Amino acid sequence: MTAANGALEFPEGFAWGSATAAYQIEGAASIDGKGPSVWDTFSHAPGNVRGGDTGDIACDSYHRYREDVALMASLGLKAYRFSISWPRVQPGGRGPANSKGLDYYRALLDELAEHGIEATATLYHWDLPQELQDDGGWPVRETAQRFAEYVAICAEALGDRVARWITLNEPQVVANNGYRHGQHAPGLRDAAAAAAATHHLLLAHGLATQVLRDVGAAEVGITLDLHPIRVLGNGRAADGNGRAGDSDDLAADLESARLITDAMVNGIFLEPVLNGRYPVHAPAAMLPAPALIADGDLETIAQRMDFLGINYYSPVFLRTGDPCDLRRNEEPARCAVPGVVEYRPDELERTTMGWLVDADGLHEILLEVSRQAPGLPLYITENGRSAEDYVNPLGEVDDIERVRYLHTHLEAAARAIKDGVRLAGYFVWSLLDNFEWAWGYQKRFGIVFVDFGTQRRILKSSARFYSDVVRANAVPSLPVS
Ligand code: FCB
Repeated sequence: MTAANGALEFPEGFAWGSATAAYQIEGAASIDGKGPSVWDTFSHAPGNVRGGDTGDIACDSYHRYREDVALMASLGLKAYRFSISWPRVQPGGRGPANSKGLDYYRALLDELAEHGIEATATLYHWDLPQELQDDGGWPVRETAQRFAEYVAICAEALGDRVARWITLNEPQVVANNGYRHGQHAPGLRDAAAAAAATHHLLLAHGLATQVLRDVGAAEVGITLDLHPIRVLGNGRAADGNGRAGDSDDLAADLESARLITDAMVNGIFLEPVLNGRYPVHAPAAMLPAPALIADGDLETIAQRMDFLGINYYSPVFLRTGDPCDLRRNEEPARCAVPGVVEYRPDELERTTMGWLVDADGLHEILLEVSRQAPGLPLYITENGRSAEDYVNPLGEVDDIERVRYLHTHLEAAARAIKDGVRLAGYFVWSLLDNFEWAWGYQKRFGIVFVDFGTQRRILKSSARFYSDVVRANAVPSLPVS
């Protein structure tokens, strides 16, 4: 595992890749029969996306996929995670396939195969056909059935070329950001709708897995965004600014806050897919009403998976505090346990998204999931950071923050493997700067810079660093020289 020069080596056959999503890169929003998705509608409504940006053109990868595949090949990448746009395949979310939509994915898959790059296809990365949303969207059970039918079309048309299928990307974000808090499409603020969407997204995953199994699909899994929940011992009570209280009570409150937050953020999707039950610590308001859970649903949801995809960005920190009297770096805790707040420690760097940088959190979450699902192969299906990237006078993009980020996180992944985690691959988010949802083009996550005016692509320093790691199948020892 550790080479003579101190580099941490990865297992043979490790899937080194990059990740993207259809709405974030394809553009061609209404070309060749594609129907509108909830993100087309949402981004076109004023006030929803920073700067009024939309995915109409994005990186124009619909037309430039050859160039993008060639870029990956030039970096030596072995795998590509992309998503299939449901409304490109079924414009209204039901009925016969749009053959031109499928042709695009066939062509992309052929191009990948020609360059020896293995395909990981995500079937749902947030672009629900608008017509299905008009009929209620994920809060309606019928949507899960429609999804299974769409998956059958994809499996039949593309199954011979896809190595790995991911049913859903981050359903937690769909339920919470899309239906509970409204900062993502379809922009609802409705707790009951979010709870119902949670169940139907899970059901959609289970039904899709069955469909894929029936056609003999190679590997099937789901991608969840997971966050370690950390408790900080030195809350405000300790320095006299917080509420008074017995330290045993405070410790008990913090532990209960940790369990509830973990259930809300991680367990709500992880437990049903792994164990066929909703987490006991989840607040009742987040759980689907019992009437929505039909006999057999939880068995359907807990289909055997071949792997679990993990998107890792940052942990959540909790400490004692007063949500009605917040101090610097504090926010009200989502678990709403009295006397507990969420907190962002000063010691940790923040990205331009405001997300905390904490590579140890990746190691921690990989070990935790391995404990909960022993033997299940894991893939890091997204990991990366936004940064203030710019083209310097030499025409280069020297994104040292991202190089450092990748270095520390890959080192954490290598350590997890050393500690017994069955990690089979890593997909950097993202190949390209792209449409970052409610933030539009403002936030850059790519290892490749995109000049959105000309569509010119420029390899950043992080792309070269990542390429070196991939070719060596090893990450150099820290610190970065
Ligand atoms: C994840 C999304 C992905 C991208 C990254 C930054 O939550 O899955 O599409 O936006 O965040």
